[in-house]
This record gives sequence, structure tokens and C-alpha cells, in this order.
Amino acid sequence: MRRLQWLAVILVIVSWFAESCQHTPFNFGELLISENCSPDTAYFVNEAFPIINSNCAMSGCHDAITHEEGVNLSSWDAIMNSDVVKPGNANGSKLIEVLTESGEEAMPPDGPLSSEQIDVLKLWINQGALNNECLDGNCDTTSVHFGSTIDPLINIYCEGCHSGSSPSGGINLTTYSNIADFAASGQLLGAVEHSAGYEPMPPGSSLTNCKTDQIRIWIENGYPND
Ligand code: HEC
Repeated sequence: MRRLQWLAVILVIVSWFAESCQHTPFNFGELLISENCSPDTAYFVNEAFPIINSNCAMSGCHDAITHEEGVNLSSWDAIMNSDVVKPGNANGSKLIEVLTESGEEAMPPDGPLSSEQIDVLKLWINQGALNNECLDGNCDTTSVHFGSTIDPLINIYCEGCHSGSSPSGGINLTTYSNIADFAASGQLLGAVEHSAGYEPMPPGSSLTNCKTDQIRIWIENGYPND
């Protein structure tokens, strides 16, 4: 009987360790998914990759086919294998170096990223450059505002392409009035909902249902600048 009790205790401990291992953050290679999005975390899939993808991994630059200078930034594995990111050390990472310096090597060649975008990448690297994603567990559709919901969403997922001197499709989405114009024309919702007749945005992927809902709700509310 005693033995059985010990066995039970040991089994509980072993399974507890096995369980906690599954949640170890340094699980390189596998995608770490959190149910809720913590505002203090920069997630690769949600935040860092959209910036890298739309500013660096375009065709002709650091994509899987061209990989200029041997640097391929088209996925988490490719980024980690390119040696441009030192997990935990943003300031020692080549990626941040080329994004923050001026002169010949400065990237992207057509102008610097915003300081908010660089801060997201730095935070992601300093938090271990994990292959992580958060789901929409705490995505809020009850209080949707331009300043706190829509503007940050477009900044992260769209402005990489839709800003600067030659924005994609000639469409600039950096200010309220630009964004409101596309809300009014139906193109903003059509593009993110992948409706027939519109170019699906972001290209090659889609916003989560909750984020698409946030855009729809804001537009249904009359796209206020609130
Ligand atoms: C990787 C670059 C890239 C990203 C990221 C991106 N776009 Fe685009 N977008 C484009 C290009 C290129 C076009 C022009 C497509 C065409 O006309 O063939 C375009 C076109 C559009 C259009 C016009 C669509 C139409 O059919 O009228 C809208 C609206 C738009 N984008 C909104 C967005 C929004 C909103 C996001 C973020 C959720 C986004 N885009 C993210 C590259 C991008």
C-alpha cells in the first residue's frame, strides 16, 4: 500500500514536470501559442513578422528566392538561420543594427521604419526572439475606437506596405483621413474580409476573425476619429 502511494506521488510529480516542459518558452522551432495576447509581449506571428514581411521579405529583397546578401527573412526559421538576430540581445543583432544606422547599409533602402516598428522588433528579440503567437482570447469587440484599436492594428499589419513615398497600390494608410477614405469607399472592409472584387489583404494571409470584426464594427459605427 505504502509503495503504491509513493508510486502515485512520483507519477504526479513526473507528469507535472512533463506538463511544465510543454510550456517552456525556449522551445525553438515549434510555434508557441498563447490564448490571450499580453500587452507586454511582442509576438512574432502577430507583430514582428508582419513588419519584417512587409518591409524586408518582399520579392527582390530578402525573400526565399532572392535572399539578397544571403539573408532570407521569409519565415521564423529563415530569420533565425540568417544569423541576423541574437535572442535576448536586440542591440547586438544585425537586424536592429541595419534598421537603426544611417548610410550605405541602412535598411530598408527606401527609408527607415518608424520608431514604433523598431521598438516592436527590439522587444521581440529581447524577449528571446521566440516563434510565438497569441490568439484573440482578449481581443475586444465591445469598445472599438480609432486611436486604441484601429490605428495600432493598421500600423502593425498594413503600414509596412501602405506608407512612404511609394506605398503599395498607391494606397497610403498612415493617417485617419487616409484610412477613413478607404473605409468610406468599402475597399478597407472588402480587402480585409476577402470579399469578391477586392484584393485580399494582407496579401497571402488574413487578419484573425476578431480583428476583422473590429474593423467592421468601427466602419459600421461610422468610422469615427475617436
Ligand atoms: C506586403 C504588402 C502589403 C500589406 C502588408 C498590405 N497590403 Fe494592402 N495592398 C498591397 C498591394 C500591393 C496592393 C495593390 C494590389 C493590386 O492592386 O493588385 C494593396 C491594395 C490594398 C487595397 C485596395 C484593395 C482593392 O481591391 O481596392 C486596400 C484597401 C488595402 N490594400 C488595404 C490593406 C490593409 C487594410 C492592410 C492591413 C490589414 C494591407 N492592405 C496590408 C500590399 C500590401
